[in-house]
Amino acid sequence: MKKSKKYSVAVALLILLAVVVFFAARGDAERQKGGPKAGAEQETASRSSDDIAYAEQLWEKIEDYTNWPVPEGFEGWQDGISPHGKYLRYYINDIAKEDFNKDGAVIVKENYMEESPDALAAVTIMQKRKGYDPENNDWFYVKYSPDGKVMTDDQGRKIAGAVGKGMDEGCVPCHTTAGGGDYLFMND
Ligand code: HEC
Repeated sequence: MKKSKKYSVAVALLILLAVVVFFAARGDAERQKGGPKAGAEQETASRSSDDIAYAEQLWEKIEDYTNWPVPEGFEGWQDGISPHGKYLRYYINDIAKEDFNKDGAVIVKENYMEESPDALAAVTIMQKRKGYDPENNDWFYVKYSPDGKVMTDDQGRKIAGAVGKGMDEGCVPCHTTAGGGDYLFMND
């Protein structure tokens, strides 16, 4: 073998080695990112990063909800009780209009502090996601700010997913108490 050829084989092997090491290291970093953070309390399944990413993408699909149908009997301002706003407005997508239990059904409830369009405080939604949380009727919950950002609770956790699942407080445990076992109050 000529000297220059030997040299180029060695260079090629070195490059190959560098590529392998690079990808191995990247895989490690990725795994660490997904794993529990040292010192931090382990996130429950109800607040996983998947839920947050899903909720952020969901907003893009629902942000025109004010053009959606309004459920029968819920036209205009509705009185709310704690913990939602004092005044509510409801919208449902076409799937929910057909059947609340159908995969992809979305119910939007706007929460206002006053009976005024300027007083919108939060947009709470429930989306039926078949297979997402079978023990709790497969509802995915999100609380958005009026401009579509996923809101955080007083402990700084994003409010998206099966929020409160397995705990005393939160969207899931409270909606469990709705009549008929469908987790919905609006048709009680
Ligand atoms: C302490 C109980 C409670 C908690 C916690 C709660 N809700 Fe509700 N929710 C209600 C009640 C009661 C209604 C009926 C409307 C009203 O009176 O405010 C309702 C209505 C709704 C509706 C309209 C569909 C329906 O069930 O009638 C949506 C959507 C909703 N809530 C989303 C959420 C989300 C998202 C969360 C968590 C961020 C949440 N809720 C937390 C009690 C609760």
